Amino acid sequence: MSSQVCHPVTPLEGALSVPGDKSISHRALILSAISEGTVRIKNLLCSDDVGRTMMIMQELGVRIEEEADALVVHGVGKHGLTAPSKPLYCGNSGTTLRLMTGLLAGQNFSSQLNGDASLDARPMQRVIDPLEQMGAHIEEKNNEGRRIVVVRGQPLRGLDYDLPIASAQVKSALMLAGLYANGPVSLKEPHPSRDHTERMLVSMGARLEWGAGWVRVEGIEKLSIKEIEVPNDFSSAAFFIVAALLIPESQIKLNAVLVSPTRSALLDILKEMGGEIDMINSRVIGGEKVADLIVQASRLQSTECPPARIPSMLDEIPILAVAATQAKGTTRIVGAGELRVKETDRLRALTLELSLLGAQIKEQPDGLAITGPTRLKGGTVKSYGDHRMAMALTVAAAVAQAPLTIEDYDAVKVSYPEFLEDWQKLVRN
Ligand code: S3P
Repeated sequence: MSSQVCHPVTPLEGALSVPGDKSISHRALILSAISEGTVRIKNLLCSDDVGRTMMIMQELGVRIEEEADALVVHGVGKHGLTAPSKPLYCGNSGTTLRLMTGLLAGQNFSSQLNGDASLDARPMQRVIDPLEQMGAHIEEKNNEGRRIVVVRGQPLRGLDYDLPIASAQVKSALMLAGLYANGPVSLKEPHPSRDHTERMLVSMGARLEWGAGWVRVEGIEKLSIKEIEVPNDFSSAAFFIVAALLIPESQIKLNAVLVSPTRSALLDILKEMGGEIDMINSRVIGGEKVADLIVQASRLQSTECPPARIPSMLDEIPILAVAATQAKGTTRIVGAGELRVKETDRLRALTLELSLLGAQIKEQPDGLAITGPTRLKGGTVKSYGDHRMAMALTVAAAVAQAPLTIEDYDAVKVSYPEFLEDWQKLVRN
């Protein structure tokens, strides 16, 4: 188990480009694989989770080559995937497991999916139930104490379905299955979740309509696109945004960050809290809105984070919790029960670890209440093998009074292998 000692730091300054977006990278690989012809993917995230999706596409018979400035995927067309020779290993990646289950449900072969111990605990019934309504045959089996998801490919029919919980992974799995169905797939969500699959499918010629909280997709014979450029990941940028706000005298620029409204609610929340964040050079990359962000150290006030905002800042709650420990007043995060079924139970993990540092944080069934500001202590904390916990705790260490040892730090490789190198680039020497 890897530990990392993280120190309080001096101001952050300079400019940085964080790596490509994780969610969009998964979708770029999967959709390129089933498209016609060759797709060049630029700025694909190179991380453990995305690596799992890439290896699985190769197992399914897709040729992928690395070039200096792009990854080249030789699409096999919608019906060109071939049966895998062994179980498809998804590692820690919930996106890989859910999206692949949807894609494999309509193939003319069977496959098996498995992953690490954390993935075994991630709920699958939310994907399996609606897929079964489409005619899919999927079973969760116990293989010597570990879960294996068996997908027996079947002809699929259309679906009209209200998702009980907003989830881009479930929605995307059903849309992928919908590409193979003999009727339209219409989905509604209680709150809009990220719409990257919708945008990419439209750019590849799919018959699809969508709006806030709904989507309708129809089967289509051919998807095609020549190039996909992946924007820089907002969820990775979020750690530097909060660090620059909290560390006195900091001023940084983050280049070409994805600021899709379905992802960047944290920006609005931090601005409401008094954070000085300027968005400049707004433009579109790969069908998604991006901008450069200028962030300056600021004094923060507490805020209220209601359920409707959670889906568009789902992965940023750990770093928002760290920000809230430094904000004046009580920040309440409500309607975030989904955090209990992420890479770890993030509500529990944040409460336990930030309490160890002296923070005033109360765990609630579906959220957190955090009162600040508190000067955090040093010590030893755990990441629970969760990449976003490890990076959020690094930011906590930056504003603590003494060094912090973060256990199981290797987890950062899931989404941001160069996180510490990039962090060092911004620390004033
Ligand atoms: C993701 C969707 C989110 C998010 C996850 C990535 C995706 O999960 O937490 O890290 O790529 O679709 P939900 O399925 O809960 O929306």
